[in-house]
Formats: sequence, C-alpha cells, structure tokens
Amino acid sequence: MSSEDLQAKVIEALKTVMDPDLHKNIVSLGFVKNMEIDSGKVKFDVELTTPACPVKEQLRNECAEKVGTIEGVESVDVNMTAVVRATEHNQPVLTGVKNIIAVASGKGGVGKSTVAVNIAAALSLTGARVGIMDADIYGPSIPQMLGIPISPPKAGENNKFFPHEKFGMKVVSAAFLTKEGQPLMLRGPMLGGIIQQFLMNVEWGELDYLVIDLPPGTGDVQLTLTQKAPLSGGVVVTTPQEVSLIDADKGVKMFQQVKVPVLGIVENMSYFVPPDMPDKKYHIFRQGGGQKLADRFHVPLLGQIPIVGEICEGGDLGKPITLNDPNSPASQAYIELAGKVAAQISINQAKEDKPETTFELAWKE
Ligand SMILES: Nc1ncnc2c1ncn2[C@@H]1O[C@H](COP(=O)(O)OP(=O)(O)O)[C@@H](O)[C@H]1O
Ligand SMILES: [Mg+2]
Repeated sequence: MSSEDLQAKVIEALKTVMDPDLHKNIVSLGFVKNMEIDSGKVKFDVELTTPACPVKEQLRNECAEKVGTIEGVESVDVNMTAVVRATEHNQPVLTGVKNIIAVASGKGGVGKSTVAVNIAAALSLTGARVGIMDADIYGPSIPQMLGIPISPPKAGENNKFFPHEKFGMKVVSAAFLTKEGQPLMLRGPMLGGIIQQFLMNVEWGELDYLVIDLPPGTGDVQLTLTQKAPLSGGVVVTTPQEVSLIDADKGVKMFQQVKVPVLGIVENMSYFVPPDMPDKKYHIFRQGGGQKLADRFHVPLLGQIPIVGEICEGGDLGKPITLNDPNSPASQAYIELAGKVAAQISINQAKEDKPETTFELAWKE
C-alpha cells in the first residue's frame, strides 16, 4: 500500500476517536497534526485544547489501538500536545492571560484558598503557564501557602509591577501590596485602588490560566472583580453540610448575576479516610451536599476533596500537597479537579452559543 493510501486509512480510523467532552471526533476537531508515515511506521501529534485534559491517556491509547490494527501499520507513535485556547472577550485588562478562573465560597474557612492554590499547582504540573491572584484582601493566605516571604513586588515601568514567582507559578497577593503583609483596613476608594492595580498593573506576561482566590462571601470586592475581570468561569467551594450550602448558594448566584459561567462546585472536606484503615471512608460532615447544590443549579460537581492532615500541613509549610506528594489520594483528587475545570472551560469555548459576557452593572444582592 502506498503511504497516501495508508494515511487515508489512518485518518478514517482516527475519525472514530471521539473527544468525550466535546462530542466530536478528533479529526474534525482539528486535533490531528504533523502526520508522518514511513513504510508502515506511523507518527502524529494529537493537539488538545488543554494539557490538563482528563482523558489524555485514554485518547492516546485509543488512537494507538485503532491505528495499530490497520493492515500495513507496523508501529504507531502518538505524541500528545496541547495549545491552550483563550476565552474570547473584549475587556482591555489582563490581555496576556488566556483563561481566568475565579474561586469563590459563600463563607470563610471552607478551604477556598487551599482549593485555589492546589488547582493552580495541578494545572502547572501539566506544563501550563499558571498565575495566582490572591484577591482575598482582608485575609490573604496564598503567600503563606506557597512559602513566599512578604516583600514588595519588583517595579516595572508606568506604575506596573511584576508578580512573585514560586514553584514555576506567578503570584500576586494583597499581602505584597501592604507593609509587612498586615491585614488591610481599607476604605472604599483604597479598595478600588487595589483591585485596579490587580487588573491593570501586573506584568503577568503570557499565562494559560490565572486562578483568582476571591474573598469569602459575595461583597463589593467579589462583585467588582467578577464584573471587571474577563473571567472564563467561576468555581464555588462548599463543605457538605446544609448550613454551608445556604452560603454557597449565594456564591453561585453571584456569578450568575454577573453572567459569568459557573464551571461547577467543589465539595471540600467531603470525607475522612483513616491512614491506618485506608478502606474506610467517614462522611464527617454528612453526605451529598455538593451534589445537591450542583443539581439545583444544573452545573457539574467538579470534585470531592477528602479531609487530610497533609493538606493542612501543606498549607502551613508553604508547599501545597499537590506539589509535595502528587501521588497521594488527596493530590489525585485535586489533579482530577483541575482537569475537570480545564475541560469545562474547553467545553464552554466549543459551544456555538457562547455564554454571554456582557455584565449587569447595577446588581445588588
Ligand atoms: N481538605 C482539607 N483537609 C484538611 N484540611 C484542610 C482541607 N481544606 C482546607 N483545610 C485547612 O482548613 C483551613 C482553612 O482553609 P482555607 O483554604 O484557608 O479556607 P478559606 O480560604 O476558605 O478561608 C486551613 O488550615 C487549611 O489548611
Ligand atoms: Mg482563604
């Protein structure tokens, strides 16, 4: 068989490989690139829309398997790559950033910052270029969680400044913008000033994903940021019990009011697995709350994170568990979560009827 004939057969076979999130085959999605055929040796790239794709290995195996059974094929070399697509918008801010994910919660203490930092870490582990904006102005905790000593950011030109860098991620925190990172006692205009700095003055360079740790609740800062930053979507963190859901409900509604797509719900502290009894699962704070909230708003439950001592230690020691011990079950839960977040963004981008990105500026709770 000629190389041309074989190539036609390979492409036919690849047309039966479906992307389970985008519901189209990988050939019509334009994912198959750089095909080379040399006397039975077949080599090609599969270029995904995110390196965090949760079904990357599944797709690779399916391609290799289906092409491998074609008569005349001696070997198959599938090279999985990714070029992150950007969320379209026409806001004049954060222009080098392809996708922005805001992490919100109805109230403090549910693990929002821990989720934000571990999503960022997990995305970064896949090779994506990642930034974190610690916008929790009243209680910035990201520097502590990443072990970054408080120091003023490096100044650039025109009042701009550079993010700190740690573990390959770029980090801006309200803590770096105040003396010694002390909690801010801000009045309205100063608050606006800080948010403006976050949006306009940071030299992020090129980023695939920027994760924003919003303050807890649904106050002015959250509202301003969700309206003015061109968000790809919002993630709402809750704990499983009913009282927490009442607050999380407001978080979802906040995103909906400002027409930001809700990527889904994260249920944190879902269960406890005793280290000496790895087969046992205790649902300390009841069960099913995250799913209930997700169902109520017809959004996905993106992940359930266990209660684990090392998660807490990671926060205190300055190295998130996902980086410190990526193979631990809790890290795997964060990695899976980050994959779902990235996939959800890709799904929204692929939708023909794109979520609206105009904002209602007059919203009040
Ligand atoms: N899944 C978890 N297991 C154990 N400890 C956790 C978990 N999630 C968060 N924590 C701990 O709970 C505390 C509050 O988490 P944090 O992320 O700061 O919450 P928030 O940002 O919502 O106020 C921190 O000490 C953190 O280390
Ligand atoms: Mg926090």
